[in-house]
Amino acid sequence: MSDEIITRLNSARAAALEAVGRAAGASELEEVRVRFLGRSGEITQVLRGLGQAPADIRPELGRRANEVRVEVESALAEQAARLREAELELRLLAERVDITLPGTVALPGTLHPLSLILLEIERIFTAMGFEMAEGPEIETDWHNFQALNIPRDHPARDMQASFYFTDDVLLRTQTSPVQIRYMLAHAPNLPVKIIAPGRVYRRDDDATHSPVFHQVEMLVVDRGITMGDLKGVLGVFAREMFGRQTRVRFRPSYFPFTEPSAEVDVSCAMCGGVGCRVCKGSGWLEILGAGMVHPQVLRNGGYDPEIVSGFAFGLGIERVAMLRYGIGDIRLLFGGDIRFLRQFHPTGEGRVEA
Ligand code: FA5
Repeated sequence: MSDEIITRLNSARAAALEAVGRAAGASELEEVRVRFLGRSGEITQVLRGLGQAPADIRPELGRRANEVRVEVESALAEQAARLREAELELRLLAERVDITLPGTVALPGTLHPLSLILLEIERIFTAMGFEMAEGPEIETDWHNFQALNIPRDHPARDMQASFYFTDDVLLRTQTSPVQIRYMLAHAPNLPVKIIAPGRVYRRDDDATHSPVFHQVEMLVVDRGITMGDLKGVLGVFAREMFGRQTRVRFRPSYFPFTEPSAEVDVSCAMCGGVGCRVCKGSGWLEILGAGMVHPQVLRNGGYDPEIVSGFAFGLGIERVAMLRYGIGDIRLLFGGDIRFLRQFHPTGEGRVEA
């Protein structure tokens, strides 16, 4: 009886260990465990049958059977670990990176040409002691027009077709309302010496006009400010921005919020003023509107025009970028085409003929 049990046990053990060694995956290993150690597994059966063995040898048989069970269990665990390791090895092999293959080059980004120009403008004017100011893009009709001497029925409104939310609220059409906001917040302190860059909106859309564009406003208010100061500041700006040889030309113009008013041209940087496609043969390019702040605008901002005077200008940043880089169509600046944008570097190289 006991011999028979021992024989069954030994052969079950040998078969189990051999099956464990052959198992090539987790599910096969599980099958082996069920076959030998499951509820009706071969080794479990032997353990159950021990009850019929003679009492004197039962403990010895029990010990032996348990040894076999433990041995098979640990063989199962070891094989499971081996299989996991082998699988990991295979995965690593499959995922190994071939460092000899050509890589994907991560191109460093460049600043947008408008950002480059704006940074340059800020550099030039902060070096001259100007402060930066800003105002909201959603503006009241009063700040955007009325406080700037443009009442509701004024024809000057036709030059700035606007996006209105209500009769009194619109997307600002110019950065000039920042003049009013800044003066009201700081009057009667002197001097006022600010530049205010920002986005503005008009119902325009062609090769040189975009519905969304950027302006930089300048405002200076102090005792004894004259048109000579305006010419001096603009001369410095033009030479810094477009080169030392650049000349500045004032043409009489009209803005309701400045008196006198001027359109300011710079000599064409493309042809040196001889005449070319960019300046349409004239040798000059208009870059901004300017003038002496109208006495009523000073009053609206809380300053006394009997005591102080001031000048202001509004510069189109896209216009400056187009001149500086030789860009023929304003829409390129807003198209987001990476081939176009990649050409711009802070050094100014990569000029495009668009
Ligand atoms: C003004 O907007 C005045 N606020 C400028 C000013 C400020 C005058 C302070 C006096 C004192 P104007 O509408 O001309 O003026 O616009 C100024 C500049 O903005 C233009 O010279 C041009 O460079 C640019 N600009 C105007 N409309 C557009 C547009 N749709 N797209 C791109 N640039 C534009």
